[in-house]
Amino acid sequence: MRRADDVSLRRYNSFGVEARAREVVQLDSLSDLEGLNFDPACDLVLGGGSNLLLANDIEGTVFLNRIRGMRILSDRDGIATVEAAAGEIWHSLVLWSLAHGLTGLENLSLIPGLAGAAPLQNIGAYGVELSDVLESVQAWDWQSRERVEFSNTDCQFGYRDSRFKSGDAGRYLVTALRLRLSRQFEPRLTYSGLGEQLAKMEISSPTARQVSQAVIMLRKRKLPDPALVGNAGSFFKNPLVTCEAADSLRSRFPDLPLFAVEGRHCKLGAGWMIEHCGWKGFREGDAGVSERHALVLVNHGHASGGEILALADKVSESVFETFGVRLEPEPRIIRG
Ligand code: EPU
Repeated sequence: MRRADDVSLRRYNSFGVEARAREVVQLDSLSDLEGLNFDPACDLVLGGGSNLLLANDIEGTVFLNRIRGMRILSDRDGIATVEAAAGEIWHSLVLWSLAHGLTGLENLSLIPGLAGAAPLQNIGAYGVELSDVLESVQAWDWQSRERVEFSNTDCQFGYRDSRFKSGDAGRYLVTALRLRLSRQFEPRLTYSGLGEQLAKMEISSPTARQVSQAVIMLRKRKLPDPALVGNAGSFFKNPLVTCEAADSLRSRFPDLPLFAVEGRHCKLGAGWMIEHCGWKGFREGDAGVSERHALVLVNHGHASGGEILALADKVSESVFETFGVRLEPEPRIIRG
């Protein structure tokens, strides 16, 4: 465990915005947790900081979760349970599992951030969500000061949502994930762009590694690289509306992308709506809307969290005026 006072958080958030923490504590092992307290009102746990907008300083302690380790716990009848500690880089876990002949994570290649943050927002891409492969989450209960385990159902996963992000926000620190992976590859190619990418690569029956490569190419082409321009991936969720509301919007906007979800609801393509309102590539100072993907807000250099938030409000307001639909931010926003 390491501690430091009055630390700049700029290199700890993928937006690259400046904010300070009164104290930063780096957690390297489970035993570090035992003597520590956590106050959800002023403290913060950080993984890769890739789904976060810091619009204020942190008055308390920032805990950097850097507990490492990946191992296969069981491997029988073509199904393996893999355990990854929260501080492992998510994409390294994907590559490690593929190198061990284990499949299931390929569609989730190149998602930024650390493994421990994955269950908070139930990371998802190209037709797969973490909840499709997650067996359980190991966590530390800050209140009762003991280790706890949550089954997949206990996590209350939804679209970019879980109990750790909603009802129980701030109560648990994720220490490890257990994933159920398979030695028999079943490609999941329902997301049409993925099929198109594989066709471009002239691959008709892909291996899991080839699907991973296709996803990597798609992400590199469509999304700005946080190492080059600050961003937190999609800044807004795709709004969920009833299918009746979606049909009525479609009659006014025939090209609006709709994705059917369970329970007579549809997701609307928020990126398309934002682009339709003319925001793609817009820039105000150093805060901007990516010219590659309108759902991604970017920091071109020295934008503050407040400036990015102000731009998000304008984008959201204009989408509401045009479509009558409220956009909800996807990253965690620290307003102070
Ligand atoms: N679109 C536009 N203009 C844009 C961007 C998108 O018209 O600027 C259209 C596309 O042409 C397409 C539709 O919107 O018809 C959907 O776009 P895309 O396939 O890029 O997916 P998305 O719904 O915008 C979601 C996730 C991404 C994930 C992709 C692929 C959310 C909030 N975002 O984006 O996740 O990579 O699907 O599965 O659900 C993230 O969460 O940070 C993230 C990047």
